[in-house]
Amino acid sequence: MIVNLQSVLKDAKDKKYAVGSFNVYNYETIRGVIESAKESQIPAIIAFGERYMENMDFKTVHAIVDTMTKEIDIPIVLHLDHCKFPENIFKAIRAGFTSVMYDGSHLSYEENLKNTKEIVEIAHATGVSVEAELGSLAGGEGSNEGAEDQNEIYTNPIQAKEFVSFTGVDALAVSIGTVHGMYKGEPKISIDVLKEIASRVDVPLVLHGGSGTPEVTIRDCIQNGICKINVNTEISVYTVEKIKELMTGEKTYHLSNISLKTVGYVKEIVKKYMSMFYR
Ligand code: 13P
Repeated sequence: MIVNLQSVLKDAKDKKYAVGSFNVYNYETIRGVIESAKESQIPAIIAFGERYMENMDFKTVHAIVDTMTKEIDIPIVLHLDHCKFPENIFKAIRAGFTSVMYDGSHLSYEENLKNTKEIVEIAHATGVSVEAELGSLAGGEGSNEGAEDQNEIYTNPIQAKEFVSFTGVDALAVSIGTVHGMYKGEPKISIDVLKEIASRVDVPLVLHGGSGTPEVTIRDCIQNGICKINVNTEISVYTVEKIKELMTGEKTYHLSNISLKTVGYVKEIVKKYMSMFYR
């Protein structure tokens, strides 16, 4: 069953766990996330980023997710991840996505505020949830999310309060020291900044840059208001490494076998994070 983001995050906030948001790019990754949710009986967010629109179009993503979730009773959210262009948000909503992330973090605070509010009004009229971002994450290794040299800007807790009440967003992505991609050194996550934001903001908070974040930090973040955690890079890095290992052996694989193996590798990472987030 496909539901919106608000419904799954409400339960997560009440019970202090986080719902995993896993990036997908093709049939294998979608299947990997849905099978993990079904087998673990844990809700999941299928996150399809604007940057992967060349891999699949929104209607196809929706058709696959819709078909695969018809028979299962665990809630699945179909979410548009990191979308900078409003026209793509409206395309995703028309295709049946139940949640969208408008990423205006590259804009001035005032422009981000204004655009986010407009998108919330339209999305809410159709029952679609909206996530927005304040602050900006740095780029780590292997990231596909943005410029590698991008500097980190921590979320300002006072702005966060104003932003949420003005725009009416359902969830707020915060920048507290995680990176998009694998960490180049020791992660330096500021739980103090998170606590400051959580004390001022009522909506569920979102942690981007989940890949490689230590389990103790994840637990600490969840205890202090994080209800959704995004994982992308590690799914890709792990799967590509495992396929490389297969290729160095004697055996020659049929593409259909590689496809099935890919589903299995994706599930290993998704289930690993699901068990950290959902306790
Ligand atoms: P990672 O690639 O670091 O896991 O971050 C994913 C993410 O934040 C997707 O929006």
